[in-house]
Amino acid sequence: MELRHSVCLLLLLCATKSSNGGKILVWYTEASHWINMKPVLEELVDRGHQVTVLVPSASLFMNSSEPSRFLYEPFNVSVSVKDLQNVFEEVLHFSLYEMDHMNPYQILNRFFDLMETNMKISLKYLDGVVKSETLMKKLKEGNYDLLYADPIYPGSDLTADILGIPLVFTLRFSIAHNVERMCGQLPAPPSFVPGAMSKLTDKMNFSERLGNFLFYALQDVLLEQFMWKEVDRYYSEIRGHAKTKAFITHGGTNGIYEAIYHGVPMLGIPVFGDQPDNLVHVEAKGAAVTVSLNVMTAESLRDAVNTVINNKS
Ligand SMILES: *[C@@H]1O[C@H](CO)[C@@H](O)[C@H](O)[C@H]1NC(C)=O
Ligand SMILES: *[C@@H]1O[C@H](CO)[C@@H](O)[C@H](O)[C@H]1NC(C)=O
Ligand SMILES: *[C@@H]1O[C@H](CO)[C@@H](O)[C@H](O)[C@H]1NC(C)=O
Repeated sequence: MELRHSVCLLLLLCATKSSNGGKILVWYTEASHWINMKPVLEELVDRGHQVTVLVPSASLFMNSSEPSRFLYEPFNVSVSVKDLQNVFEEVLHFSLYEMDHMNPYQILNRFFDLMETNMKISLKYLDGVVKSETLMKKLKEGNYDLLYADPIYPGSDLTADILGIPLVFTLRFSIAHNVERMCGQLPAPPSFVPGAMSKLTDKMNFSERLGNFLFYALQDVLLEQFMWKEVDRYYSEIRGHAKTKAFITHGGTNGIYEAIYHGVPMLGIPVFGDQPDNLVHVEAKGAAVTVSLNVMTAESLRDAVNTVINNKS
């Protein structure tokens, strides 16, 4: 009797302990970013959380065969370790040997060249996660409570959004505090806060403050142009599938092609030219419902929208 009570109490204690822990999914990262993240994950495990780390098939520092107290979720990428080493070497060569012999225009040019290459590789990594049906299904079924990410590799925000879970970022800095200001709402007046990578300190004279102001402005424009636009394009492509339930269209060829590409059903209100004919064909394939502009009412439009959204054929 005594023993049975003790066992019950023990089981109860175990259950209480594990119910306090969360299921944490960790975004892949690289080099010092990964080295710095590991002790945080160890601490999370110590505090009773279950930690699962996404690990790409090609990485310089992550290794899903390495014994550890957290779990690994490996995924395949179309990048080789050699590709990765080449990019790192190019960046190092630029920083150590090329930069000193270049004018500011050449430096900027080369820097954004390298960033573009890096972005291409980063998006190939992201393909390995969000475009893998097997992995996304597994992650959804994993019922994670949180995604923990270093935003050096893009896509954790998109993935957290698709999985419907909160996102926690950890990061050392982004150039000119772009991410901290734009995503984290961090107040950083350029007259007081020296932009990361500007080589300025918090003791600035007037011309340095002016330089800092221009540094922020220039980096914001360049990052928008070379990075965020690319990320936005990628995210809209992925989200195009996921969230749009119906496309209300006049039946022009371009719009129809886009809807077909994303697999979104259409509600057609043709006006003229090829539009009525286009919609007849899409309707015949079961991908559209058409209403006539001249006779439609609020009710018939609402009914048609409901048909498009709810009728699966
Ligand atoms: C990964 O870890 C395993 C186990 O510790 C080790 O045998 C293997 O060599 C490592 N791979 C790389 C590429 O470091
Ligand atoms: C990765 O590729 C290997 C070999 O083709 C395959 O066995 C494995 O299931 C793939 N992993 C994922 C997560 O798709
Ligand atoms: C501001 O400080 C920089 C760096 O110390 C110096 O080169 C520059 O002459 C100073 N400008 C003014 C206006 O004091």
